[in-house]
This record gives sequence, structure tokens and C-alpha cells, in this order.
Amino acid sequence: MNINILDEQNKAKESIKAQGLRVLVCAGTGCVANGSLEIIKKFKELGADVSPLSDFDKVTIVPTGCHGFCEQGVLVIIPELDVTYVKVKLADVEEIIESHIKDGKPVERLLYKDPKSGEPVYKNEDINFYAKQTRTSLANCGNINAEELSEAIAVGAYEGLAKVLKQNDPNAVIDEIVKSGLRGRGGGGFPTGMKWKFTAANRGGKSYVVCNGDEGDPGAFMDRSVMEGDPHKLLEGIAIAGFAVGADEAYIYVRAEYPLAIKRLKIAIAQAEEAHYLGSKVMGTDFNFEIHIKEGAGAFVCGEETALIASIEGERGMPRPKPPFPANKGLFGRPTLINNVETLANVPVIIRKGADWFSSLGTEKSKGTKTFALTGEVNNTGLIEVPMGTTLREIVFDIGGGIRNGKKFKAVQMGGPSGGCLTEEHLDMSMDYDSLIKAGAMIGSGGLVVMNEDTCIVEVARFFMNFTQNESCGKCVPCREGTKNMLKILEKIVKGQGTMEDLDTLEELAKAVKDGSLCGLGKTAPNPVLSTLKYFRDEYIAHIKDKKCPAGVCSALKTIAIDEDLCKGCSKCARTCPVGAISGQIKSPFKIDQSKCIKCGACLNNCPFKAIKQV
Ligand SMILES: Cc1cc2nc3c(=O)[nH]c(=O)nc-3n(C[C@H](O)[C@H](O)[C@H](O)COP(=O)(O)O)c2cc1C
Repeated sequence: MNINILDEQNKAKESIKAQGLRVLVCAGTGCVANGSLEIIKKFKELGADVSPLSDFDKVTIVPTGCHGFCEQGVLVIIPELDVTYVKVKLADVEEIIESHIKDGKPVERLLYKDPKSGEPVYKNEDINFYAKQTRTSLANCGNINAEELSEAIAVGAYEGLAKVLKQNDPNAVIDEIVKSGLRGRGGGGFPTGMKWKFTAANRGGKSYVVCNGDEGDPGAFMDRSVMEGDPHKLLEGIAIAGFAVGADEAYIYVRAEYPLAIKRLKIAIAQAEEAHYLGSKVMGTDFNFEIHIKEGAGAFVCGEETALIASIEGERGMPRPKPPFPANKGLFGRPTLINNVETLANVPVIIRKGADWFSSLGTEKSKGTKTFALTGEVNNTGLIEVPMGTTLREIVFDIGGGIRNGKKFKAVQMGGPSGGCLTEEHLDMSMDYDSLIKAGAMIGSGGLVVMNEDTCIVEVARFFMNFTQNESCGKCVPCREGTKNMLKILEKIVKGQGTMEDLDTLEELAKAVKDGSLCGLGKTAPNPVLSTLKYFRDEYIAHIKDKKCPAGVCSALKTIAIDEDLCKGCSKCARTCPVGAISGQIKSPFKIDQSKCIKCGACLNNCPFKAIKQV
């Protein structure tokens, strides 16, 4: 080996120290959309000749990947000053520089305010969103410049790869992964070490590693964050996997809707090849390893491993029956290890810190941490990483800061369209693979949508069924026809046209689609329906029997009425109504013709006297 990674690491740490005061500005997809590139430009212009606080003789502006608290973007973190600024706008840059960096006076109005106490919070780790997190796969996201190899090296990149190459014992690497208890983060939770063993059993000929970065779950963006924020960690994880199973080539399958992830991965691959961390004779050893990027067109089913392989091969992305499993017959007919981005991003740290360290986190059967995309009706939305086994209550009420606008918690949809609905009774349940399956949900890729009392559960089930029906590739009948018929029934119910027989048919169909479908898309598509039927059957019945939507969401079941006592007869509602359903005499109460009303709510929103109500 001709590369001493620890020397490289020391050099990289020194070069970071020489940067002086580091101003970390988020340049992940969310903050870029919020104008962070202009903010970075302005910081660079104004900060170039700043002579900052006495301890530092230089200011360096560092564009980083996503820090997770996207809702509060643009985030600006200055670690040396122990401060995190939120919702930073272009107009705030000058004040941060003049007041804080030059004069040492923090800009209080740009600090995060605790939703309960209203008090400003200075340090990142004191913000309730971060306080209960344990960041492993996301550890460096938001803290380093993802486009600079030396920044990744300074925080440990390629140390694990150097360690395994020095040890030169692929089976020992696999044993370490087995011992760690790592399970696949792509949804199924299959033991990673076991999968590596199956693939390694075919060592000797050509084989591949495929990294699944398709991330098709609506609302999920954990894999994107790793690819954008710490691409070298992923490349290192893939290379270690390749060394362990005897592969010399890998593909990262990334959907084309992730252009920033693709750009940063390409930069990282070129840097790693140049530094001999990838390519031929990696780190001066006999290990050769090439990584390619394959851009996917963005179909949910292409995340399924056999469909994904077909897509890389240039075929239409459709699943095929298993066996043969990819470990035996995968890409181009060769043995292939396929793992998710987050799974592979956990590998370098397991090798560096050891299996015992990793397995000390989490529960007995679900080790380590899990990232979740926390969205919906919580105060703090964003990307979080917590030890497996953290409860839903801790996620929703501590990290998420509780339900927005003082509303009541109703449910969470866990794991996207493959997952299920959890309720108040699950708030103290451990979030791990097995407990979730028992409750009729699943971690899936980690989407977590929090719903309040104003959410219609039947409409949620319809929404997810619409998604899976659209995304079904159509190859097998149960999924193609079953999801279509389930969707039709759900549409009838939300329109108030469903019958109790429909409910029985819906349940029967759900079970048939689950049992009979070829791939995981169909096998899991009924989960949102089955779990909502289990926990919220009353709401389905209210739609069918009472023709009422208890949450007041389903427009076909709404009635809009004018309160005669409050109506002043100003005629604004009649003038606003797009279908002429409202009439009356000026200065007398107006009336709505229910047969004409399309329940659009325009009158309701425009009445100056709040005389129009939805009942
Ligand atoms: C419809 C469908 C979509 C999937 N989408 C993804 C995906 O976007 N990303 C992913 O890693 N796995 C996805 N999977 C799971 C993969 O097929 C595969 O199990 C996973 O990539 C294996 O990696 P892991 O063992 O590291 O989890 C999907 C499965 C199905 C059935």
C-alpha cells in the first residue's frame, strides 16, 4: 500500500484548521431552492476581507450538503461561534458578518425559537429537532463541503477502506458486517451480512455491486441527502462491499430527478479515482474497483431490485420472479450485491469503529440508527436520524416539536405507500423492523407523515392507492387489476357512493393483491388500506352509512350553508361563486342552491362576516 490514509487525514485536518472561522451554508436541494447559492455568493463577497474575532485570522465560506432541518432553511452554522442561524435571507448576510463575525454580537432574530418556551436557541445541539438525534449515516451531511475530497478525508473517509485493504481478508469484513447486525435500509430489512455472504459464495468470476439510490417513496429524501452531502462515504461503503464480495465494478442507480446528487457523485468519483481510492490498484493494492452512475427515469417500480437491474441493462424496468436471486444471477447475468444507499453509508463507520460499537445502538434485532423523513403536521419537519427503537412519541413530540397550531395528533403514515397507518395507541411503541410489521406498518425507506384531526384517513388511503396504481408496471394481474379496483372502491367511498358490500370487497381484494402479486409493489400496496381499515374502520363506515366525512375533508360530502343570523346580505358570496349557486336580495340573508353548489369553498373564504360554514 502506498497511501497512508492517516497522514492524508492529518494533512486534511490541518487544512481545515487553516480555514479559520468556517461559515457552513447549506447547499442541499431544499436550501438551494430557497436561494442559498446567492447567499453563499454574498457571504464570499462580503466575507473576503473581514478580519473576524481575535481567535481567527480568516473566514471561509463552506457550501455544505443538507443538515436536515429543511423547514428552517436557509441554515447557516458557524461551529467556531457555536451558533446556528435559521431562515437566513440574502438581506441578512451583511448583518451576520458585521454584527457577529466582526463585533461578536449574535443576531438574535435569526436564531431558532423553541416552539414551547419561545426562547432563542444558540447551539445546534440544543435545538429540540437535533437534541435526540444520533447521526451516523448523516453525520457529516451539512458539516463538510461535499465537493472537496480533503474535507471528507478530514472526517474519516476511506479510513475503513484502508483498514480492510491492509487486513486483506474479505471474509473478515463480511463477518464484521454480520456481527454488527446491520439490516437493509431499503425497506425489507434483510440482514446485510447474510446478503454479502450469499454473493461472496460466487466469488471468482465477474460480479457487481449495485447501489440502489432510486428512492421512489413520495416524500423520502434520506438517500438523496447522503449522496448530496457526503458522497465519499457512499463510495467508500460501495468499495468495501465490492472488496468483501469479490466484485470489481459497481453501479449507483440514481433517479434523474436528483441532479445535484448525480453532480456531486460524479465529482466525488473523479476525485477518488485521481487519489487512487477507486480505479485500478486501489491504494497500491491488487484491488481494482470502478463505480459508474446510472440515471433512472424515475419510476417507483425501478427501485425493486430485479426491475432496477433490468433498467441498468437497458430493458424496461419490470420485476421478475425470484429465485434466482441477484446474489446468484443479477446484473448482466452475473452475481450481484444490491444494497440501499443508507445501508452502504453505514458500512465505513462499522469498519472504522467496529461491529460492537454499531450494535450497541438500537434494539435487540434492529441495530444502529435509522433516518426518517419527518413531514406533515408537526412543528419541525425535516430529515432525522435516531437509534432504532426510538418511540414515535419521541419523534413526533420531542424532535418534531409536537403538532402544529395546537391541533390533536391523529395518526402517522409510516413507510410511504408500502407502509401503514399508526395511531395514538402506537405512540410508545419501539420503532424497529419487527414491531412495525407486527402493527401492520413497516419502516419502508423511512417516510413518516404526521396527520392531525383534520385529516381524512379514507382520503389518505385513496391517495396512496392512487400512487401505487399509477406506478404498477402492469406485468402481473393481481397488482395491475387489483390496485385499479381497490382505487375505484376508495373513490366511490370518498364521494359518498360506497356500500358496506364495497368495504368487504375492498378488504378481500387487499388480501388477494398482497398474496398474489409478483413483487413488493403489489405485495405492500394494500398496507395503507388494511391498516386504516383496522384502526379507523369507523371513518369508512361514516362515509358509507352517514354520508359524512368526520374530518370534513371529502368535498363531495361537505355541505356549505349560510348562517342567516350572521349574513348581512352584502352579496359578496354570490359574486364570488363560480357556478351561480348563491342568490338573494341585498341586505337580506342569501341562500345556497345545494344542487348547483360544487363545494369549492370560494364563498366560505370570502365572506367578510364569517356567515358561511361548512357542515
Ligand atoms: C416497489 C419497490 C420499490 C423499491 N424502491 C426502493 C428504493 O427506492 N430504494 C431502495 O434502496 N430499495 C427499494 N426497494 C427495495 C429493493 O428492492 C431492495 O430490497 C433493496 O434495495 C435492497 O437493499 P438493502 O438490503 O440494503 O435494503 C424497493 C422495493 C420495491 C418492491
